[in-house]
Amino acid sequence: MIMRKLPKIELHLHHEGAAPPSFIQQLAAEKNVDLSGIFKANGDYSFSTFNEFLSTYEAACQVLKEPEDFHRLTLSILEKSAENGVIYTEVFISPDFCGGGDLTAWREYLAAIESAADIAKKDLGIEMRGIVTCIRHNGPTLAKRAAICAAETASKFVVGFGMGGDELVGSQADFKFSFDMAEEAGLGLTTHAGEWGGAESVRQAIQDLSVTRLGHGVQIINDSNLVTEAMDKKITLEVCPGSNVFLGIFEKLSLHPIDSLLNSGVSVTVSTDDPPFFNTTMTTEYNNLKDVFGWDEDIFKVINQNAIHAAFCDEKQKLILLERINTEWTKT
Ligand code: ADE
Ligand code: ZN
Repeated sequence: MIMRKLPKIELHLHHEGAAPPSFIQQLAAEKNVDLSGIFKANGDYSFSTFNEFLSTYEAACQVLKEPEDFHRLTLSILEKSAENGVIYTEVFISPDFCGGGDLTAWREYLAAIESAADIAKKDLGIEMRGIVTCIRHNGPTLAKRAAICAAETASKFVVGFGMGGDELVGSQADFKFSFDMAEEAGLGLTTHAGEWGGAESVRQAIQDLSVTRLGHGVQIINDSNLVTEAMDKKITLEVCPGSNVFLGIFEKLSLHPIDSLLNSGVSVTVSTDDPPFFNTTMTTEYNNLKDVFGWDEDIFKVINQNAIHAAFCDEKQKLILLERINTEWTKT
């Protein structure tokens, strides 16, 4: 099986988190910004803990200023995704970085991102959708502004609302107002839960925020009632194994619960989160799952079918994706 070429669906990719270091360094040079502190000698992003990761991430975002920067970023990340066989990707885009939550500015950033997505679709055949994302450690007030941006621009392209950031700051329920607003606008809902937080964080995400997907969600492995609840409520996990291992949540992939969760019957999907930060790609993730857990074409087909069922795009798009997944993930 030529892993890189096989079609893949990705549901969990942070727009800024997918920026290659070389892309950020290029922008820094163009804008005369000194970002040398966030890179290692070999050019990789430099951080060791999750909090350092968030600081490095936010420092890199300093050079993403104009809508044009986000247009270029979108082209660059979709090119990389398409190279790795991704045919459909849902990307977390944050108004906090695109105009600071101002709706008029947000519309300009969004137009620049969407026009890049149109080009990538035409040139590379990859479909992108946006999940407007608030940042938990920036607090509920800014989250409300992000939710207004999301609700006002809901469309065929903007299909979801989500929350990233530090899961250990505040509680999921603090963001209920924003998630309710997004739900009323018809958007799909997801939040980072069960990455760093435990059962309570996941329960609030499901009960208070009414999400149908959990960003990561892997900590439910420690609570059998939650595993059953996730199955009964058909909650889908956006699992990012390489990210979890890189950030030290699990010591190595063989100790990661993705295979157990799948075998328990939970709807599991695979994504990269922030690929250049964690030195990964979708191809790398799939190859590692094949090597460590013996996943084969049948399992990868299920993983991608799960992703299509949980995707926030319309049914017509889902049928097109299903057709490709079902025909191309076959044993040779
Ligand atoms: N933003 C980007 N990557 C993230 C992660 N893994 N967890 C929470 N917020 C994030
Ligand atoms: Zn994430």
